[in-house]
Amino acid sequence: MIFLLVTCLAALLSPSVHGVDWCYHKPECNFTTWPTIATQFCNGSKQSPINIVTASVQGNANLTSFNFTGFDDNSTFLNIVNSDGSVVANLNSSKVAVQGGDLPGLYNPTQVSIHWGNSSSSNGSEHTVDGKQYSMELQILSVHSKYNGNVSAALAANDSTGLAVFSFFIEGTQQNQTNIWVNLTSILQFISRPGAQIPILIPVTLNSLFEGVDRTKYYRYRGSLTTPTCNEVVIWTVFKQPINVNQNLINRFSTDLFLNADKTVQMTNNFRGVQPLNGRVVTSQVVNSTAPSSVATSTLSIITALLLSSLF
Ligand SMILES: *[C@@H]1O[C@H](CO)[C@@H](O)[C@H](O)[C@H]1NC(C)=O
Ligand SMILES: *[C@@H]1O[C@H](CO)[C@@H](O)[C@H](O)[C@H]1NC(C)=O
Ligand SMILES: *[C@@H]1O[C@H](CO)[C@@H](O)[C@H](O)[C@H]1NC(C)=O
Ligand SMILES: *[C@@H]1O[C@H](CO)[C@@H](O)[C@H](O)[C@H]1NC(C)=O
Ligand SMILES: *[C@@H]1O[C@H](CO)[C@@H](O)[C@H](O)[C@H]1NC(C)=O
Ligand SMILES: *[C@@H]1O[C@H](CO)[C@@H](O)[C@H](O)[C@H]1NC(C)=O
Ligand SMILES: *[C@@H]1O[C@H](CO)[C@@H](O)[C@H](O)[C@H]1NC(C)=O
Ligand SMILES: *[C@@H]1O[C@H](CO)[C@@H](O)[C@H](O)[C@H]1NC(C)=O
Ligand SMILES: *[C@@H]1O[C@H](CO)[C@@H](O)[C@H](O)[C@H]1NC(C)=O
Ligand SMILES: *[C@@H]1O[C@H](CO)[C@@H](O)[C@H](O)[C@H]1NC(C)=O
Ligand SMILES: *[C@@H]1O[C@H](CO)[C@@H](O)[C@H](O)[C@H]1NC(C)=O
Ligand SMILES: *[C@@H]1O[C@H](CO)[C@@H](O)[C@H](O)[C@H]1NC(C)=O
Repeated sequence: MIFLLVTCLAALLSPSVHGVDWCYHKPECNFTTWPTIATQFCNGSKQSPINIVTASVQGNANLTSFNFTGFDDNSTFLNIVNSDGSVVANLNSSKVAVQGGDLPGLYNPTQVSIHWGNSSSSNGSEHTVDGKQYSMELQILSVHSKYNGNVSAALAANDSTGLAVFSFFIEGTQQNQTNIWVNLTSILQFISRPGAQIPILIPVTLNSLFEGVDRTKYYRYRGSLTTPTCNEVVIWTVFKQPINVNQNLINRFSTDLFLNADKTVQMTNNFRGVQPLNGRVVTSQVVNSTAPSSVATSTLSIITALLLSSLF
Protein backbone atom coordinates (compact mmCIF):
# COMPACT_ATOMS: atom_id res chain seq x y z
CA MET A 1 0.00 0.00 0.00
CA ILE A 2 1.55 3.25 -1.15
CA PHE A 3 -0.50 5.51 1.05
CA LEU A 4 -0.86 5.49 4.76
CA LEU A 5 -4.43 6.26 5.56
CA VAL A 6 -5.13 8.94 8.13
CA THR A 7 -8.73 9.94 7.90
CA CYS A 8 -10.21 12.55 10.14
CA LEU A 9 -13.75 13.62 9.81
CA ALA A 10 -15.29 17.03 10.00
CA ALA A 11 -18.97 17.74 9.89
CA LEU A 12 -18.50 21.12 8.26
CA LEU A 13 -20.52 21.68 5.13
CA SER A 14 -19.25 25.14 4.36
CA PRO A 15 -15.74 26.40 4.88
CA SER A 16 -15.55 29.29 7.28
CA VAL A 17 -13.05 32.10 6.96
CA HIS A 18 -13.06 34.73 9.69
CA GLY A 19 -16.55 33.64 10.64
CA VAL A 20 -17.89 33.89 7.09
CA ASP A 21 -19.63 30.75 5.86
CA TRP A 22 -19.29 30.55 2.13
CA CYS A 23 -19.86 27.79 -0.39
CA TYR A 24 -20.13 26.99 -4.08
CA HIS A 25 -23.29 24.95 -4.14
CA LYS A 26 -26.08 26.68 -2.17
CA PRO A 27 -27.96 29.84 -3.18
CA GLU A 28 -27.46 31.42 0.26
CA CYS A 29 -23.67 31.20 0.16
CA ASN A 30 -22.52 30.63 -3.44
CA PHE A 31 -20.10 33.05 -5.09
CA THR A 32 -22.80 35.49 -6.17
CA THR A 33 -23.34 36.20 -2.46
CA TRP A 34 -19.67 36.64 -1.49
CA PRO A 35 -19.67 40.42 -2.03
CA THR A 36 -22.43 40.62 0.60
CA ILE A 37 -21.28 37.95 3.06
CA ALA A 38 -17.54 38.77 2.81
CA THR A 39 -17.79 42.48 2.09
CA GLN A 40 -14.30 43.62 3.01
CA PHE A 41 -12.53 42.43 -0.15
CA CYS A 42 -14.91 40.26 -2.23
CA ASN A 43 -16.71 43.44 -3.23
CA GLY A 44 -13.47 44.98 -4.53
CA SER A 45 -12.66 46.17 -8.04
CA LYS A 46 -9.64 43.93 -8.73
CA GLN A 47 -11.16 40.50 -8.21
CA SER A 48 -10.26 37.12 -9.68
CA PRO A 49 -10.85 35.07 -11.75
CA ILE A 50 -11.35 36.94 -15.02
CA ASN A 51 -12.13 36.17 -18.62
CA ILE A 52 -8.98 36.82 -20.66
CA VAL A 53 -9.83 38.50 -23.96
CA THR A 54 -6.86 37.56 -26.14
CA ALA A 55 -7.43 40.45 -28.57
CA SER A 56 -7.00 42.93 -25.67
CA VAL A 57 -3.87 41.34 -24.21
CA GLN A 58 -0.91 43.74 -24.30
CA GLY A 59 2.69 42.73 -24.96
CA ASN A 60 5.24 43.10 -22.17
CA ALA A 61 8.85 42.24 -22.93
CA ASN A 62 9.58 42.01 -19.17
CA LEU A 63 7.64 38.76 -18.93
CA THR A 64 10.70 36.54 -19.19
CA SER A 65 10.92 32.89 -18.24
CA PHE A 66 10.79 31.71 -14.63
CA ASN A 67 13.44 30.11 -12.51
CA PHE A 68 11.74 27.23 -10.70
CA THR A 69 13.66 25.84 -7.72
CA GLY A 70 12.74 22.52 -6.09
CA PHE A 71 10.18 21.61 -8.76
CA ASP A 72 12.05 18.34 -9.40
CA ASP A 73 12.38 17.60 -5.68
CA ASN A 74 10.29 14.54 -4.71
CA SER A 75 10.09 15.52 -1.02
CA THR A 76 8.22 18.83 -1.30
CA PHE A 77 4.63 17.51 -1.01
CA LEU A 78 3.52 17.17 2.62
CA ASN A 79 -0.06 15.97 2.40
CA ILE A 80 -3.28 16.13 0.44
CA VAL A 81 -6.47 17.35 2.09
CA ASN A 82 -10.20 17.59 1.40
CA SER A 83 -10.49 21.20 2.50
CA ASP A 84 -12.56 24.34 1.89
CA GLY A 85 -14.64 22.69 -0.83
CA SER A 86 -11.58 21.66 -2.82
CA VAL A 87 -8.64 19.31 -2.80
CA VAL A 88 -5.47 20.91 -1.55
CA ALA A 89 -1.90 19.61 -1.47
CA ASN A 90 0.32 21.32 1.08
CA LEU A 91 3.96 21.90 0.18
CA ASN A 92 7.09 22.40 2.23
CA SER A 93 7.56 26.02 1.15
CA SER A 94 11.14 26.14 2.36
CA LYS A 95 12.14 23.72 -0.40
CA VAL A 96 10.46 25.41 -3.36
CA ALA A 97 10.79 28.84 -4.97
CA VAL A 98 9.96 30.75 -8.13
CA GLN A 99 11.62 33.89 -9.42
CA GLY A 100 11.90 35.75 -12.73
CA GLY A 101 8.97 36.44 -15.03
CA ASP A 102 8.86 40.09 -13.84
CA LEU A 103 7.90 39.04 -10.29
CA PRO A 104 9.12 41.51 -7.66
CA GLY A 105 11.30 38.99 -5.84
CA LEU A 106 11.29 35.36 -4.86
CA TYR A 107 8.02 33.50 -4.09
CA ASN A 108 7.67 30.23 -2.17
CA PRO A 109 4.84 27.89 -3.25
CA THR A 110 2.83 26.75 -0.23
CA GLN A 111 -0.09 24.80 -1.69
CA VAL A 112 -1.67 23.41 -4.81
CA SER A 113 -5.44 23.52 -5.20
CA ILE A 114 -7.75 22.40 -7.98
CA HIS A 115 -11.09 23.66 -9.28
CA TRP A 116 -13.44 21.61 -11.45
CA GLY A 117 -16.95 21.32 -12.87
CA ASN A 118 -19.07 18.17 -12.91
CA SER A 119 -17.38 15.22 -14.62
CA SER A 120 -17.58 15.62 -18.37
CA SER A 121 -20.94 17.38 -18.29
CA SER A 122 -19.64 20.79 -17.24
CA ASN A 123 -16.26 22.50 -17.17
CA GLY A 124 -14.86 24.11 -14.08
CA SER A 125 -11.79 26.28 -14.62
CA GLU A 126 -11.92 29.64 -12.85
CA HIS A 127 -10.23 31.73 -15.53
CA THR A 128 -11.63 31.60 -19.03
CA VAL A 129 -10.00 32.57 -22.33
CA ASP A 130 -12.21 34.32 -24.87
CA GLY A 131 -15.14 32.81 -22.99
CA LYS A 132 -13.80 29.26 -23.08
CA GLN A 133 -13.89 27.51 -19.74
CA TYR A 134 -11.45 24.64 -19.42
CA SER A 135 -12.22 21.37 -17.69
CA MET A 136 -10.23 22.17 -14.53
CA GLU A 137 -7.68 24.66 -13.20
CA LEU A 138 -4.69 23.89 -11.00
CA GLN A 139 -3.39 26.79 -8.91
CA ILE A 140 -0.10 27.03 -7.03
CA LEU A 141 -0.43 29.55 -4.22
CA SER A 142 2.91 31.20 -3.44
CA VAL A 143 4.00 33.78 -0.91
CA HIS A 144 6.75 36.39 -1.15
CA SER A 145 9.93 35.14 0.51
CA LYS A 146 9.88 38.02 2.99
CA TYR A 147 6.93 36.28 4.72
CA ASN A 148 8.82 32.97 5.23
CA GLY A 149 6.02 30.83 3.83
CA ASN A 150 3.36 32.45 6.05
CA VAL A 151 0.37 33.31 3.85
CA SER A 152 -1.56 34.78 6.82
CA ALA A 153 1.26 37.23 7.41
CA ALA A 154 1.11 38.39 3.77
CA LEU A 155 -2.68 38.82 4.04
CA ALA A 156 -2.35 40.69 7.35
CA ALA A 157 0.12 43.09 5.72
CA ASN A 158 -2.37 43.73 2.88
CA ASP A 159 0.67 43.76 0.60
CA SER A 160 -0.46 44.08 -3.03
CA THR A 161 2.45 41.90 -4.18
CA GLY A 162 2.40 39.57 -1.17
CA LEU A 163 1.12 36.52 -3.06
CA ALA A 164 1.66 35.04 -6.52
CA VAL A 165 -0.52 32.32 -8.02
CA PHE A 166 0.70 30.14 -10.90
CA SER A 167 -2.25 28.70 -12.71
CA PHE A 168 -2.57 25.87 -15.21
CA PHE A 169 -5.64 24.93 -17.22
CA ILE A 170 -6.47 21.23 -17.45
CA GLU A 171 -8.09 19.84 -20.57
CA GLY A 172 -9.84 16.48 -20.76
CA THR A 173 -8.50 14.02 -23.32
CA GLN A 174 -9.24 10.46 -24.41
CA GLN A 175 -5.53 9.54 -24.33
CA ASN A 176 -4.41 6.83 -21.95
CA GLN A 177 -2.62 8.46 -19.06
CA THR A 178 0.54 6.94 -17.66
CA ASN A 179 2.00 9.76 -15.57
CA ILE A 180 1.55 10.92 -11.97
CA TRP A 181 -2.05 12.03 -12.56
CA VAL A 182 -3.04 8.35 -12.47
CA ASN A 183 -1.50 7.97 -9.01
CA LEU A 184 -2.82 11.25 -7.66
CA THR A 185 -6.38 10.72 -8.80
CA SER A 186 -6.36 7.19 -7.38
CA ILE A 187 -5.98 8.58 -3.85
CA LEU A 188 -8.99 10.92 -3.98
CA GLN A 189 -11.23 8.08 -2.74
CA PHE A 190 -9.25 8.10 0.53
CA ILE A 191 -10.03 11.76 1.23
CA SER A 192 -13.66 11.66 0.21
CA ARG A 193 -14.92 13.39 3.37
CA PRO A 194 -14.29 17.01 4.39
CA GLY A 195 -11.25 17.40 6.61
CA ALA A 196 -9.76 14.07 5.55
CA GLN A 197 -6.06 14.14 4.83
CA ILE A 198 -3.32 11.73 3.82
CA PRO A 199 0.42 12.20 3.63
CA ILE A 200 1.81 11.90 0.13
CA LEU A 201 4.17 8.98 0.12
CA ILE A 202 4.73 8.67 -3.61
CA PRO A 203 7.68 10.55 -5.08
CA VAL A 204 5.60 13.29 -6.69
CA THR A 205 7.29 16.47 -7.87
CA LEU A 206 5.70 19.75 -8.92
CA ASN A 207 7.16 19.39 -12.41
CA SER A 208 5.50 16.00 -12.86
CA LEU A 209 2.07 17.66 -12.62
CA PHE A 210 2.56 19.79 -15.72
CA GLU A 211 4.87 17.70 -17.85
CA GLY A 212 5.23 19.08 -21.35
CA VAL A 213 3.57 22.44 -20.71
CA ASP A 214 5.50 25.42 -22.13
CA ARG A 215 6.07 27.59 -19.09
CA THR A 216 7.45 30.56 -21.02
CA LYS A 217 4.01 31.51 -22.40
CA TYR A 218 1.61 33.03 -19.94
CA TYR A 219 -0.84 35.80 -19.12
CA ARG A 220 -0.15 38.21 -16.26
CA TYR A 221 -2.49 40.49 -14.33
CA ARG A 222 -3.14 41.74 -10.78
CA GLY A 223 -6.08 40.28 -8.91
CA SER A 224 -7.32 38.53 -5.81
CA LEU A 225 -7.76 35.21 -4.06
CA THR A 226 -10.69 33.39 -5.68
CA THR A 227 -12.19 32.35 -2.34
CA PRO A 228 -13.25 34.52 0.59
CA THR A 229 -11.79 36.67 1.88
CA CYS A 230 -10.85 37.55 -1.72
CA ASN A 231 -7.85 39.70 -0.72
CA GLU A 232 -6.53 41.78 -3.64
CA VAL A 233 -2.90 40.83 -3.11
CA VAL A 234 -2.22 38.39 -5.94
CA ILE A 235 0.07 38.60 -8.95
CA TRP A 236 -1.54 36.12 -11.34
CA THR A 237 0.34 34.02 -13.89
CA VAL A 238 -1.99 31.98 -16.09
CA PHE A 239 -0.14 29.60 -18.41
CA LYS A 240 -1.59 29.41 -21.92
CA GLN A 241 -0.99 25.73 -22.66
CA PRO A 242 -3.23 23.35 -20.75
CA ILE A 243 -2.18 20.17 -18.97
CA ASN A 244 -3.80 17.21 -20.73
CA VAL A 245 -5.46 14.73 -18.39
CA ASN A 246 -7.59 11.74 -19.31
CA GLN A 247 -11.30 12.55 -18.91
CA ASN A 248 -11.93 9.46 -16.75
CA LEU A 249 -9.34 10.70 -14.26
CA ILE A 250 -10.90 14.17 -14.30
CA ASN A 251 -14.28 12.58 -13.53
CA ARG A 252 -12.91 11.15 -10.28
CA PHE A 253 -12.78 14.63 -8.73
CA SER A 254 -16.56 14.88 -9.09
CA THR A 255 -17.32 11.29 -8.10
CA ASP A 256 -14.81 10.58 -5.30
CA LEU A 257 -14.97 13.78 -3.25
CA PHE A 258 -17.82 14.98 -1.04
CA LEU A 259 -18.80 18.08 0.90
CA ASN A 260 -20.29 16.19 3.83
CA ALA A 261 -19.37 13.23 6.01
CA ASP A 262 -22.46 11.29 4.87
CA LYS A 263 -21.16 11.50 1.32
CA THR A 264 -24.49 12.67 -0.06
CA VAL A 265 -23.32 16.01 -1.47
CA GLN A 266 -20.74 15.67 -4.25
CA MET A 267 -17.96 18.19 -4.55
CA THR A 268 -18.67 19.69 -7.96
CA ASN A 269 -18.50 23.09 -9.67
CA ASN A 270 -16.10 24.47 -7.08
CA PHE A 271 -15.09 27.51 -9.07
CA ARG A 272 -15.87 31.21 -8.73
CA GLY A 273 -17.41 32.85 -11.78
CA VAL A 274 -15.45 35.48 -13.70
CA GLN A 275 -15.23 38.98 -12.25
CA PRO A 276 -15.20 42.37 -14.01
CA LEU A 277 -11.80 43.61 -15.24
CA ASN A 278 -12.59 47.22 -14.25
CA GLY A 279 -9.90 48.65 -16.52
CA ARG A 280 -7.17 46.19 -15.61
CA VAL A 281 -4.82 45.17 -18.39
CA VAL A 282 -3.73 41.59 -19.04
CA THR A 283 -0.23 41.30 -20.44
CA SER A 284 1.71 38.53 -22.13
CA GLN A 285 4.96 37.90 -23.97
CA VAL A 286 3.69 38.91 -27.40
CA VAL A 287 1.75 41.87 -28.61
CA ASN A 288 -1.41 40.59 -30.20
CA SER A 289 -1.29 43.05 -33.07
CA THR A 290 -2.72 40.63 -35.65
CA ALA A 291 -6.33 40.70 -34.47
CA PRO A 292 -6.96 44.47 -34.04
CA SER A 293 -4.77 45.61 -36.95
CA SER A 294 -6.23 43.10 -39.40
CA VAL A 295 -9.71 44.32 -38.39
CA ALA A 296 -8.53 47.90 -38.92
CA THR A 297 -6.98 46.98 -42.27
CA SER A 298 -10.06 45.20 -43.54
CA THR A 299 -12.27 48.09 -42.36
CA LEU A 300 -9.99 50.49 -44.18
CA SER A 301 -10.08 48.47 -47.37
CA ILE A 302 -13.86 48.34 -47.24
CA ILE A 303 -13.94 52.14 -46.86
CA THR A 304 -11.43 52.47 -49.70
CA ALA A 305 -13.49 50.16 -51.86
CA LEU A 306 -16.65 52.16 -51.05
CA LEU A 307 -14.86 55.44 -51.85
CA LEU A 308 -13.50 54.04 -55.07
CA SER A 309 -16.86 52.62 -56.10
CA SER A 310 -18.52 55.98 -55.42
CA LEU A 311 -15.84 57.74 -57.45
CA PHE A 312 -16.13 55.51 -60.46
C1 LIG B 1 -26.13 31.28 -6.77
O1 LIG B 1 -27.20 31.66 -5.98
C2 LIG B 1 -28.06 32.58 -6.61
C3 LIG B 1 -29.09 33.02 -5.58
O2 LIG B 1 -28.42 33.64 -4.52
C4 LIG B 1 -28.69 31.93 -7.81
O3 LIG B 1 -29.52 32.85 -8.48
C5 LIG B 1 -27.59 31.47 -8.77
O4 LIG B 1 -28.15 30.74 -9.82
C6 LIG B 1 -26.58 30.61 -8.05
N1 LIG B 1 -25.45 30.42 -8.96
C7 LIG B 1 -24.71 29.35 -8.95
C8 LIG B 1 -23.60 29.30 -9.92
O5 LIG B 1 -24.92 28.42 -8.19
C1 LIG C 1 -20.10 46.99 -3.21
O1 LIG C 1 -19.48 48.22 -3.48
C2 LIG C 1 -20.29 49.12 -4.22
C3 LIG C 1 -19.46 50.31 -4.60
O2 LIG C 1 -18.34 50.44 -3.78
C4 LIG C 1 -21.50 49.48 -3.43
O3 LIG C 1 -22.33 50.32 -4.18
C5 LIG C 1 -22.25 48.21 -3.10
O4 LIG C 1 -23.33 48.50 -2.28
C6 LIG C 1 -21.35 47.24 -2.40
N1 LIG C 1 -22.07 46.00 -2.26
C7 LIG C 1 -22.08 45.33 -1.14
C8 LIG C 1 -22.85 44.08 -1.19
O5 LIG C 1 -21.48 45.68 -0.14
C1 LIG D 1 -4.37 36.98 -30.91
O1 LIG D 1 -5.73 37.15 -31.16
C2 LIG D 1 -6.28 36.17 -32.01
C3 LIG D 1 -7.73 36.56 -32.28
O2 LIG D 1 -8.37 36.99 -31.12
C4 LIG D 1 -6.16 34.82 -31.34
O3 LIG D 1 -6.68 33.82 -32.19
C5 LIG D 1 -4.71 34.53 -31.06
O4 LIG D 1 -4.60 33.32 -30.34
C6 LIG D 1 -4.09 35.64 -30.23
N1 LIG D 1 -2.68 35.41 -30.10
C7 LIG D 1 -2.08 35.39 -28.92
C8 LIG D 1 -0.63 35.18 -28.95
O5 LIG D 1 -2.67 35.52 -27.86
C1 LIG E 1 9.75 46.74 -17.88
O1 LIG E 1 10.68 46.95 -16.84
C2 LIG E 1 11.27 48.25 -16.87
C3 LIG E 1 12.33 48.28 -15.81
O2 LIG E 1 11.82 47.86 -14.56
C4 LIG E 1 10.18 49.29 -16.65
O3 LIG E 1 10.74 50.59 -16.72
C5 LIG E 1 9.12 49.14 -17.74
O4 LIG E 1 8.06 50.02 -17.49
C6 LIG E 1 8.60 47.72 -17.77
N1 LIG E 1 7.72 47.56 -18.92
C7 LIG E 1 6.47 47.18 -18.78
C8 LIG E 1 5.70 47.06 -20.05
O5 LIG E 1 5.97 46.93 -17.70
C1 LIG F 1 17.33 30.39 -9.51
O1 LIG F 1 16.88 30.61 -8.18
C2 LIG F 1 17.76 30.11 -7.18
C3 LIG F 1 17.15 30.45 -5.83
O2 LIG F 1 15.86 29.98 -5.72
C4 LIG F 1 19.12 30.75 -7.31
O3 LIG F 1 19.98 30.18 -6.38
C5 LIG F 1 19.67 30.56 -8.72
O4 LIG F 1 20.86 31.28 -8.87
C6 LIG F 1 18.68 31.07 -9.73
N1 LIG F 1 19.13 30.76 -11.07
C7 LIG F 1 19.09 31.65 -12.04
C8 LIG F 1 19.60 31.18 -13.38
O5 LIG F 1 18.64 32.78 -11.90
C1 LIG G 1 13.78 11.11 -4.72
O1 LIG G 1 14.81 11.95 -5.19
C2 LIG G 1 16.09 11.56 -4.75
C3 LIG G 1 17.08 12.63 -5.16
O2 LIG G 1 16.91 12.98 -6.51
C4 LIG G 1 16.44 10.19 -5.33
O3 LIG G 1 17.70 9.77 -4.88
C5 LIG G 1 15.38 9.19 -4.88
O4 LIG G 1 15.59 7.97 -5.50
C6 LIG G 1 13.99 9.70 -5.22
N1 LIG G 1 13.03 8.82 -4.61
C7 LIG G 1 12.16 8.10 -5.30
C8 LIG G 1 11.32 7.18 -4.52
O5 LIG G 1 12.07 8.21 -6.52
C1 LIG H 1 10.77 21.35 5.24
O1 LIG H 1 12.08 21.29 4.72
C2 LIG H 1 13.08 21.70 5.63
C3 LIG H 1 14.39 21.65 4.91
O2 LIG H 1 14.39 22.53 3.84
C4 LIG H 1 13.08 20.79 6.83
O3 LIG H 1 14.01 21.25 7.77
C5 LIG H 1 11.69 20.77 7.46
O4 LIG H 1 11.64 19.82 8.49
C6 LIG H 1 10.65 20.42 6.45
N1 LIG H 1 9.33 20.59 7.02
C7 LIG H 1 8.41 19.66 7.00
C8 LIG H 1 7.11 19.98 7.62
O5 LIG H 1 8.60 18.58 6.47
C1 LIG I 1 -23.45 16.21 -11.83
O1 LIG I 1 -23.70 15.36 -12.92
C2 LIG I 1 -24.44 14.21 -12.56
C3 LIG I 1 -24.59 13.35 -13.80
O2 LIG I 1 -23.43 13.36 -14.55
C4 LIG I 1 -25.79 14.60 -12.02
O3 LIG I 1 -26.47 13.46 -11.58
C5 LIG I 1 -25.61 15.56 -10.85
O4 LIG I 1 -26.87 16.05 -10.45
C6 LIG I 1 -24.75 16.72 -11.24
N1 LIG I 1 -24.48 17.50 -10.06
C7 LIG I 1 -24.53 18.82 -10.04
C8 LIG I 1 -24.26 19.47 -8.74
O5 LIG I 1 -24.75 19.48 -11.04
C1 LIG J 1 -15.62 22.70 -22.11
O1 LIG J 1 -14.39 22.07 -22.45
C2 LIG J 1 -14.46 21.42 -23.70
C3 LIG J 1 -13.17 20.66 -23.87
O2 LIG J 1 -12.07 21.49 -23.65
C4 LIG J 1 -14.66 22.46 -24.79
O3 LIG J 1 -14.77 21.81 -26.04
C5 LIG J 1 -15.93 23.24 -24.51
O4 LIG J 1 -16.04 24.30 -25.42
C6 LIG J 1 -15.90 23.81 -23.10
N1 LIG J 1 -17.19 24.41 -22.82
C7 LIG J 1 -17.31 25.69 -22.49
C8 LIG J 1 -18.70 26.12 -22.18
O5 LIG J 1 -16.37 26.49 -22.43
C1 LIG K 1 1.88 33.84 10.53
O1 LIG K 1 1.47 35.16 10.52
C2 LIG K 1 0.38 35.42 11.39
C3 LIG K 1 -0.09 36.82 11.13
O2 LIG K 1 0.97 37.71 11.12
C4 LIG K 1 0.82 35.17 12.82
O3 LIG K 1 -0.26 35.40 13.68
C5 LIG K 1 1.28 33.74 12.94
O4 LIG K 1 1.80 33.50 14.22
C6 LIG K 1 2.35 33.42 11.90
N1 LIG K 1 2.61 32.00 11.93
C7 LIG K 1 3.82 31.51 12.05
C8 LIG K 1 3.92 30.02 12.03
O5 LIG K 1 4.80 32.20 12.14
C1 LIG L 1 -5.68 2.48 -23.73
O1 LIG L 1 -5.49 1.35 -22.90
C2 LIG L 1 -6.41 0.30 -23.17
C3 LIG L 1 -6.24 -0.81 -22.14
O2 LIG L 1 -5.19 -0.55 -21.27
C4 LIG L 1 -6.20 -0.21 -24.58
O3 LIG L 1 -7.14 -1.23 -24.85
C5 LIG L 1 -6.38 0.94 -25.55
O4 LIG L 1 -6.06 0.51 -26.85
C6 LIG L 1 -5.47 2.11 -25.20
N1 LIG L 1 -5.81 3.25 -26.04
C7 LIG L 1 -4.91 4.04 -26.57
C8 LIG L 1 -5.42 5.17 -27.40
O5 LIG L 1 -3.72 3.88 -26.40
C1 LIG M 1 1.89 5.11 -10.23
O1 LIG M 1 1.06 3.98 -10.36
C2 LIG M 1 1.53 3.02 -11.26
C3 LIG M 1 0.52 1.91 -11.35
O2 LIG M 1 -0.74 2.45 -11.59
C4 LIG M 1 2.86 2.47 -10.78
O3 LIG M 1 3.37 1.57 -11.76
C5 LIG M 1 3.84 3.61 -10.61
O4 LIG M 1 5.03 3.15 -10.04
C6 LIG M 1 3.25 4.67 -9.71
N1 LIG M 1 4.13 5.81 -9.69
C7 LIG M 1 4.57 6.33 -8.58
C8 LIG M 1 5.46 7.50 -8.75
O5 LIG M 1 4.25 5.88 -7.49
